[in-house]
Amino acid sequence: MKQDTNIAIIGGGYVGLSTAAAFSNAGYTVYLIEPNKERLNTVKAGKCFFYEEGIEPLIEKAVKEKTLIPTDKYSEAIDKCSIIFSCVGTPDNPDGSSNLSFIFAAANEAAEYLQPGAIYIQKSTVPVGTGKKIESIFTEKKIDVAYVSNPEFLREGTAVEDTLFFDRIVVGGKDSSVLDRVIAIHKVIQEHHKTLLDISGITIPKKNYAGKYIKANLSSAELIKVTANAFLAVKISFANSIAKIADQTDASVIEVMDAVGADPRIGRAFFNAGRGFGGGCFPKDVSGIIFSADEHGVDFGIMKATEAINDSMANYIVEKAQKTIGGYKNKKVAVLGLAFKAGTSDARRSPGAKIANLLSSAGAQVSAYDPKAAEEAKEELNNKVEIVTSAEEAIKNSDAIFVTTEWPEFLELDLNENAKNMSGDTLVDCLNLFDISAVQKAGLQYIGVGRNGV
Ligand code: UGA
Repeated sequence: MKQDTNIAIIGGGYVGLSTAAAFSNAGYTVYLIEPNKERLNTVKAGKCFFYEEGIEPLIEKAVKEKTLIPTDKYSEAIDKCSIIFSCVGTPDNPDGSSNLSFIFAAANEAAEYLQPGAIYIQKSTVPVGTGKKIESIFTEKKIDVAYVSNPEFLREGTAVEDTLFFDRIVVGGKDSSVLDRVIAIHKVIQEHHKTLLDISGITIPKKNYAGKYIKANLSSAELIKVTANAFLAVKISFANSIAKIADQTDASVIEVMDAVGADPRIGRAFFNAGRGFGGGCFPKDVSGIIFSADEHGVDFGIMKATEAINDSMANYIVEKAQKTIGGYKNKKVAVLGLAFKAGTSDARRSPGAKIANLLSSAGAQVSAYDPKAAEEAKEELNNKVEIVTSAEEAIKNSDAIFVTTEWPEFLELDLNENAKNMSGDTLVDCLNLFDISAVQKAGLQYIGVGRNGV
């Protein structure tokens, strides 16, 4: 097969579109296969269906220059490409296991058109052992194609940055020369990173950048991805448990985690206590690894505890604030933040939406605001929660404010002015973002998570 110049990407979700945006502006011709008509038409118009800083200019330019070719047909893409990325969704089943129906459907359909010598690369998060099953599909169909696991580590909200300045590229498979080919195409992105930054318009604070390329066997590569997410989730739930202890004393979870995280063996990242983790990855990856461990005869107790602690946090905060607010019946409450984190319009399993629903079920009249996620949050919210178009509108006449996403604009709110427009006087800082004395100076009672003593 000639040099790798054409890439097919199956699935135009967060991972697929971010990957397409990078490769199509780094000298490759990228065919993006997206079956959803609405999403497909959005990409064809040079746009992105979700908010992610810097991604739209990349898509727009590549679509215009025809280096990004969106299609809904495998037959128009796969046989033209020597590199195929599978970036389809892996939602969870009701029992918590990973739903791999899109993964197998994509492999089966691609198999109809795969050319000899092509590499089929899995970027989607899959349980360990999945790759071997796909390899046997290709073997049964007698297709000469290599299978590689190349898990994605990018975070929503910083997808472009993470694609350009990755910590590591992991490639797992049988044949070392095939793994080298996959590494080589990622190195081309590196060579183009200045161009990609210029097009995206993102300025990234200078950092000592040294991304690693790691080769592993197929099963290890699959397990690396789920292990990384699982461990980060453990750190968050661990910090949240410490916060609950801090709440019973006059310790501050921030002071504790700053000092504990200063030990390089431990590290400070993902030790921010608060309303817990949400999004399209951690909740399903935690339940997925519990299920997958179980299938291998391993009782993954630590992950079960991680999940249970996370599930408890929204309720814990709502109950903790109840006394200060004086119950929720007939109270008006502002919820600021419906995205599962700042920098994205994604509201899947959003802790802010969960808190809004809990408050509403407890009898409060809830006005919620998010600068980017209002539309996507509708599916997550019960129909009594009202979505408004500014933080000020949500706060007006409210008895309490719950800040549930770390959007910078919430930290920049003029608390003195907003406090004057409230009926009550409580600010519930569900992510420990605010300077407590500044909140108190504005005449508001402060409630955080594990910051009772400060
Ligand atoms: C996560 C991983 O960080 C990525 O490396 C991975 O590629 C991705 O999942 C994936 O599997 O696709 P993401 O879900 O975009 O990325 O967001 P994170 O920044 O990891 O945040 C996840 C959740 O944890 C958010 O709700 C965030 O608010 C919460 N969080 C994070 C905390 O509650 N405390 C912290 O200290 C850190």
